[in-house]
Amino acid sequence: MEKKEMLYEGKAKRVYATDNAEVLLVDYKDDATAFNGLKKGTISGKGVINNRVTNFMMQILEKEGVPTHFVKEISERETLVKKVSIVPLEVIIRNISAGSFAKRYGVEEGIVFAEPTIEFSYKNDDLGDPLINSYHALALGIATKEDIATITAMAFKVNEVMKKFFKGIGVDLVDFKLEFGKTSDGTIVLADEISPDTCRFWDSETHEKLDKDRFRRDLGNVEDAYQEMMKRIMG
Ligand code: TMP
Repeated sequence: MEKKEMLYEGKAKRVYATDNAEVLLVDYKDDATAFNGLKKGTISGKGVINNRVTNFMMQILEKEGVPTHFVKEISERETLVKKVSIVPLEVIIRNISAGSFAKRYGVEEGIVFAEPTIEFSYKNDDLGDPLINSYHALALGIATKEDIATITAMAFKVNEVMKKFFKGIGVDLVDFKLEFGKTSDGTIVLADEISPDTCRFWDSETHEKLDKDRFRRDLGNVEDAYQEMMKRIMG
Protein backbone atom coordinates (compact mmCIF):
# COMPACT_ATOMS: atom_id res chain seq x y z
CA MET A 1 0.00 0.00 0.00
CA GLU A 2 1.48 3.32 -1.07
CA LYS A 3 1.22 6.49 1.08
CA LYS A 4 0.05 9.33 -1.18
CA GLU A 5 -0.95 12.95 -0.60
CA MET A 6 -2.05 14.28 2.79
CA LEU A 7 -5.82 14.87 2.73
CA TYR A 8 -6.34 16.33 6.18
CA GLU A 9 -4.42 17.35 9.27
CA GLY A 10 -6.28 17.30 12.57
CA LYS A 11 -5.12 18.12 16.08
CA ALA A 12 -3.75 14.64 16.78
CA LYS A 13 -3.58 12.85 13.43
CA ARG A 14 -2.80 13.27 9.76
CA VAL A 15 -4.81 11.43 7.12
CA TYR A 16 -3.31 10.39 3.78
CA ALA A 17 -4.69 8.91 0.58
CA THR A 18 -3.37 5.54 -0.55
CA ASP A 19 -3.34 3.81 -3.93
CA ASN A 20 -6.61 2.14 -2.90
CA ALA A 21 -9.55 4.57 -3.18
CA GLU A 22 -11.39 2.74 -0.37
CA VAL A 23 -8.48 2.91 2.10
CA LEU A 24 -6.87 5.81 3.98
CA LEU A 25 -3.71 5.96 6.06
CA VAL A 26 -3.84 7.56 9.51
CA ASP A 27 -0.62 8.89 11.08
CA TYR A 28 -0.76 9.65 14.83
CA LYS A 29 1.11 12.71 16.18
CA ASP A 30 2.46 13.49 19.67
CA ASP A 31 0.69 16.89 19.56
CA ALA A 32 -1.87 17.43 22.28
CA THR A 33 -4.51 20.14 22.55
CA ALA A 34 -7.30 20.84 24.98
CA PHE A 35 -10.18 23.30 25.30
CA ASN A 36 -10.78 23.43 21.56
CA GLY A 37 -7.13 24.02 20.76
CA LEU A 38 -6.57 26.81 23.32
CA LYS A 39 -4.04 24.73 25.28
CA LYS A 40 -1.25 23.21 23.21
CA GLY A 41 1.55 20.83 24.05
CA THR A 42 3.34 17.61 23.25
CA ILE A 43 2.95 14.26 24.92
CA SER A 44 6.09 12.39 23.96
CA GLY A 45 5.29 8.92 22.61
CA LYS A 46 1.53 9.56 22.54
CA GLY A 47 1.18 8.92 18.80
CA VAL A 48 2.66 5.44 19.11
CA ILE A 49 0.55 4.61 22.17
CA ASN A 50 -2.72 5.93 20.73
CA ASN A 51 -2.16 4.11 17.44
CA ARG A 52 -1.43 0.79 19.11
CA VAL A 53 -4.11 1.11 21.81
CA THR A 54 -6.78 2.17 19.30
CA ASN A 55 -6.03 -0.76 17.01
CA PHE A 56 -6.01 -3.20 19.91
CA MET A 57 -9.42 -1.97 21.12
CA MET A 58 -10.89 -1.89 17.58
CA GLN A 59 -9.92 -5.54 17.12
CA ILE A 60 -11.52 -6.55 20.43
CA LEU A 61 -14.67 -4.72 19.38
CA GLU A 62 -14.72 -6.36 15.93
CA LYS A 63 -14.52 -9.76 17.66
CA GLU A 64 -17.53 -8.77 19.77
CA GLY A 65 -19.53 -7.88 16.65
CA VAL A 66 -18.98 -4.11 16.42
CA PRO A 67 -18.00 -3.13 12.84
CA THR A 68 -15.06 -0.69 12.74
CA HIS A 69 -12.98 1.15 10.14
CA PHE A 70 -9.81 -0.76 11.13
CA VAL A 71 -7.91 -2.45 8.30
CA LYS A 72 -4.27 -2.95 9.28
CA GLU A 73 -1.53 -1.48 11.47
CA ILE A 74 1.45 -0.77 9.23
CA SER A 75 3.91 0.95 11.59
CA GLU A 76 4.21 2.26 15.15
CA ARG A 77 2.26 5.39 14.24
CA GLU A 78 0.46 4.44 11.02
CA THR A 79 -2.69 2.46 10.35
CA LEU A 80 -4.77 1.72 7.28
CA VAL A 81 -8.48 2.34 7.74
CA LYS A 82 -11.58 2.11 5.56
CA LYS A 83 -12.45 5.39 3.91
CA VAL A 84 -15.66 6.64 5.51
CA SER A 85 -17.57 9.87 5.61
CA ILE A 86 -17.54 10.88 9.25
CA VAL A 87 -20.92 11.55 10.85
CA PRO A 88 -20.22 14.96 12.45
CA LEU A 89 -21.25 13.89 15.94
CA GLU A 90 -19.12 13.27 19.01
CA VAL A 91 -20.89 10.48 20.83
CA ILE A 92 -20.12 10.51 24.54
CA ILE A 93 -20.94 7.67 26.90
CA ARG A 94 -20.57 8.18 30.65
CA ASN A 95 -20.56 5.63 33.47
CA ILE A 96 -19.30 7.94 36.23
CA SER A 97 -19.69 11.73 36.59
CA ALA A 98 -16.67 13.77 35.49
CA GLY A 99 -15.56 16.61 33.25
CA SER A 100 -18.18 18.71 31.50
CA PHE A 101 -21.03 16.62 32.97
CA ALA A 102 -19.96 17.42 36.54
CA LYS A 103 -19.47 21.08 35.63
CA ARG A 104 -22.72 21.49 33.66
CA TYR A 105 -24.96 19.89 36.28
CA GLY A 106 -23.08 21.12 39.36
CA VAL A 107 -22.19 17.72 40.80
CA GLU A 108 -18.91 16.27 42.06
CA GLU A 109 -16.84 13.88 39.97
CA GLY A 110 -17.02 10.17 40.82
CA ILE A 111 -20.78 9.53 41.09
CA VAL A 112 -21.33 6.02 39.69
CA PHE A 113 -24.47 6.05 37.53
CA ALA A 114 -27.06 3.26 37.78
CA GLU A 115 -27.26 3.36 33.97
CA PRO A 116 -24.79 4.77 31.45
CA THR A 117 -25.69 8.06 29.74
CA ILE A 118 -25.28 9.08 26.11
CA GLU A 119 -24.92 12.55 24.68
CA PHE A 120 -24.08 14.04 21.31
CA SER A 121 -22.00 17.04 20.40
CA TYR A 122 -22.10 18.61 16.96
CA LYS A 123 -18.53 18.21 15.66
CA ASN A 124 -17.79 21.80 14.69
CA ASP A 125 -14.66 23.52 16.06
CA ASP A 126 -15.87 27.02 15.11
CA LEU A 127 -18.90 26.51 17.36
CA GLY A 128 -16.93 24.71 20.09
CA ASP A 129 -18.62 21.31 19.51
CA PRO A 130 -21.98 22.30 21.05
CA LEU A 131 -24.09 19.71 22.88
CA ILE A 132 -27.14 18.72 20.80
CA ASN A 133 -29.95 16.20 21.14
CA SER A 134 -31.06 13.69 18.52
CA TYR A 135 -33.88 15.97 17.28
CA HIS A 136 -31.37 18.77 16.69
CA ALA A 137 -29.18 16.34 14.75
CA LEU A 138 -32.20 15.41 12.60
CA ALA A 139 -33.17 19.06 12.09
CA LEU A 140 -29.61 19.94 11.06
CA GLY A 141 -29.50 17.01 8.63
CA ILE A 142 -26.46 15.59 10.43
CA ALA A 143 -27.90 12.07 10.56
CA THR A 144 -31.11 10.18 9.89
CA LYS A 145 -33.32 8.61 12.56
CA GLU A 146 -32.03 5.18 11.55
CA ASP A 147 -28.40 6.38 11.73
CA ILE A 148 -28.95 7.75 15.23
CA ALA A 149 -30.63 4.53 16.38
CA THR A 150 -27.74 2.46 14.97
CA ILE A 151 -25.10 4.74 16.46
CA THR A 152 -26.79 4.73 19.87
CA ALA A 153 -27.03 0.93 19.98
CA MET A 154 -23.41 0.56 18.83
CA ALA A 155 -22.14 3.08 21.39
CA PHE A 156 -23.82 1.25 24.29
CA LYS A 157 -22.49 -2.07 22.99
CA VAL A 158 -18.97 -0.58 22.85
CA ASN A 159 -19.46 0.54 26.46
CA GLU A 160 -20.42 -2.95 27.63
CA VAL A 161 -17.41 -4.54 25.93
CA MET A 162 -14.96 -1.88 27.09
CA LYS A 163 -16.26 -1.63 30.68
CA LYS A 164 -15.70 -5.35 31.13
CA PHE A 165 -12.27 -5.28 29.46
CA PHE A 166 -11.00 -2.35 31.55
CA LYS A 167 -12.38 -3.81 34.79
CA GLY A 168 -10.17 -6.82 34.09
CA ILE A 169 -7.06 -4.61 34.04
CA GLY A 170 -7.94 -2.65 37.18
CA VAL A 171 -9.32 0.43 35.44
CA ASP A 172 -12.71 2.12 35.80
CA LEU A 173 -13.98 3.34 32.43
CA VAL A 174 -15.41 6.73 33.47
CA ASP A 175 -16.46 8.09 30.06
CA PHE A 176 -15.35 8.20 26.45
CA LYS A 177 -16.00 9.79 23.08
CA LEU A 178 -16.70 7.86 19.88
CA GLU A 179 -17.03 8.88 16.25
CA PHE A 180 -18.79 6.94 13.54
CA GLY A 181 -18.48 6.94 9.76
CA LYS A 182 -20.35 5.63 6.74
CA THR A 183 -18.57 3.42 4.21
CA SER A 184 -19.24 3.74 0.47
CA ASP A 185 -22.04 1.14 0.77
CA GLY A 186 -23.72 3.11 3.58
CA THR A 187 -22.71 0.85 6.47
CA ILE A 188 -22.10 2.67 9.77
CA VAL A 189 -18.81 1.70 11.37
CA LEU A 190 -16.90 2.84 14.44
CA ALA A 191 -14.13 5.24 13.34
CA ASP A 192 -11.54 7.66 14.78
CA GLU A 193 -9.69 6.47 17.91
CA ILE A 194 -10.10 4.89 21.34
CA SER A 195 -7.21 6.03 23.50
CA PRO A 196 -6.24 7.91 26.67
CA ASP A 197 -6.97 11.07 24.59
CA THR A 198 -10.62 10.12 24.14
CA CYS A 199 -11.46 8.16 27.30
CA ARG A 200 -11.27 8.81 31.03
CA PHE A 201 -9.52 5.98 32.83
CA TRP A 202 -9.29 5.86 36.65
CA ASP A 203 -7.30 3.23 38.50
CA SER A 204 -9.94 1.05 40.22
CA GLU A 205 -8.07 0.99 43.55
CA THR A 206 -6.39 4.39 43.87
CA HIS A 207 -8.71 6.35 41.51
CA GLU A 208 -5.55 7.86 39.99
CA LYS A 209 -6.26 9.47 36.60
CA LEU A 210 -4.56 7.59 33.73
CA ASP A 211 -5.68 9.70 30.76
CA LYS A 212 -5.52 13.09 29.06
CA ASP A 213 -6.98 14.87 32.10
CA ARG A 214 -3.37 14.80 33.40
CA PHE A 215 -2.51 17.12 30.48
CA ARG A 216 -5.75 19.16 30.49
CA ARG A 217 -5.43 19.86 34.24
CA ASP A 218 -1.62 20.06 34.51
CA LEU A 219 -1.47 17.11 36.90
CA GLY A 220 2.02 15.97 35.83
CA ASN A 221 3.24 12.47 34.89
CA VAL A 222 1.30 12.66 31.62
CA GLU A 223 3.64 10.37 29.66
CA ASP A 224 3.75 7.89 32.56
CA ALA A 225 -0.04 7.61 32.56
CA TYR A 226 -0.17 6.90 28.80
CA GLN A 227 2.64 4.31 29.15
CA GLU A 228 0.88 2.68 32.10
CA MET A 229 -2.38 2.38 30.14
CA MET A 230 -0.63 0.83 27.14
CA LYS A 231 1.16 -1.63 29.42
CA ARG A 232 -2.07 -2.67 31.13
CA ILE A 233 -4.07 -2.91 27.89
CA MET A 234 -1.51 -4.75 25.75
CA GLY A 235 0.30 -6.70 28.47
P1 TMP B 1 -16.10 16.01 28.69
O1 TMP B 1 -16.41 15.59 30.09
O2 TMP B 1 -15.08 17.11 28.61
O3 TMP B 1 -17.35 16.33 27.91
O4 TMP B 1 -15.44 14.75 27.95
C1 TMP B 1 -16.12 13.53 27.87
C2 TMP B 1 -15.21 12.50 27.22
O5 TMP B 1 -14.94 12.82 25.87
C3 TMP B 1 -13.83 12.36 27.89
O6 TMP B 1 -13.53 10.98 27.99
C4 TMP B 1 -12.88 13.03 26.97
C5 TMP B 1 -13.54 12.91 25.62
N1 TMP B 1 -13.32 14.08 24.77
C6 TMP B 1 -12.74 13.93 23.54
O7 TMP B 1 -12.36 12.81 23.15
N2 TMP B 1 -12.58 15.04 22.76
C7 TMP B 1 -12.97 16.27 23.14
O8 TMP B 1 -12.79 17.22 22.38
C8 TMP B 1 -13.58 16.42 24.43
C9 TMP B 1 -14.03 17.76 24.90
C10 TMP B 1 -13.74 15.30 25.20
